[in-house]
Amino acid sequence: IKVGVVFGGKSGEHEVSLQSAKSVMEALNPHQYTIVPIGISKSGRWHVGKNAMKALEEEQKTQVPSGSSASFINQQVGGLTPIVPKSPAAPVPATLASDVDVVIPVMHGTYGEDGSIQGLLELMDVAYVGAGVLASAVGLDKIVMKQVFGSVGLPQVRYVGCTRKTWQARSNDIIREIEESFGYPCFVKPANLGSSVGISKAKNRSELERAVELAAQYDRKVIIEEGLDVREVEVAVLGNDTPQISVAGEIVPSNEFYDYDAKYIGGASKLIIPAELTEEQRSAIDRYAAQAFQAIDCSGLARIDFFIEKSTGRVLINEINTMPGFTRYSMYPKLWEASGMSYANLLDTLIELAIE
Ligand code: ADP
Ligand code: DAL
Ligand code: MG
Repeated sequence: IKVGVVFGGKSGEHEVSLQSAKSVMEALNPHQYTIVPIGISKSGRWHVGKNAMKALEEEQKTQVPSGSSASFINQQVGGLTPIVPKSPAAPVPATLASDVDVVIPVMHGTYGEDGSIQGLLELMDVAYVGAGVLASAVGLDKIVMKQVFGSVGLPQVRYVGCTRKTWQARSNDIIREIEESFGYPCFVKPANLGSSVGISKAKNRSELERAVELAAQYDRKVIIEEGLDVREVEVAVLGNDTPQISVAGEIVPSNEFYDYDAKYIGGASKLIIPAELTEEQRSAIDRYAAQAFQAIDCSGLARIDFFIEKSTGRVLINEINTMPGFTRYSMYPKLWEASGMSYANLLDTLIELAIE
């Protein structure tokens, strides 16, 4: 089977995607699969073949890291360049259409986890692992995702969404709405991203204003959420119409919240598998995970992340990730390992699900 592994892309999570893709390519059994690496650079250029990863890494080295203007709130964004979407001539290699049996789009965030690569693959009539166009797009947009989750009755934090333009035009009204609805601390996020890129915890009005400015550098839309004191628990979902749900894992972040540094740099965050939960919490998580997966019409895989409010023990859904972090040390494969499925077997299953 010829497997195209697509990675990189015009996303704030470009670097994370390279790490995920390296693990995937190392684990695919060479007797079973012929791997075609397909890298997309930050500027949208495609590189196909065994030098693709190197080409992207070289390109990264030549980029000057951008310091964040609001480094007080998220110093970790320091080395990450906000991606300014351009429309360069980016010819899609013909190999992609004619030469692979299935594609694993190991891409996180915009232009990859948002339905765009999935749409391209649909047009080319190539089978691919994971969520389709709709689920990818809905799952990545935290505002639309919350609207869909709310419509099926899933419990979640209170939130306010706005666009860069509406914030510029009437930030006072939006601030009033936030302060009346939930106040501080609140979490400010670009609507379409992941890996905590561009996310800040704001403890007062001036931090809120700076946090929205930062988030708006990454996306046209921004979401502001009620900040709760929480435990963070995640489950992995695998399957199409009748998905399986893994054991639950808990994350204990090394920083004040699970920011980019705590996820990838500091390395001191802890994963506890299985998470210690009451029976009610465990069954609520299973039920909500299945509902969330189905609500966005997801397929293949997803990691579904929950908050457990410390003061009440109540379970809230935080988000769905349709292409979760996929290094060997990432939560998604670890949860399946703990449920009895090895990393390599997980990839076999995902490929089977894509072509079934
Ligand atoms: P991403 O898609 O980038 O992973 P999340 O919505 O999961 O974004 O937020 C990243 C992290 O920020 C969470 O893992 C958690 O540590 C913290 N966080 C986000 N929203 C809240 C919230 N409403 N209350 C408390 N902590 C939050
Ligand atoms: N967005 C990152 C990769 C995750 O959810 O694991
Ligand atoms: Mg998250």
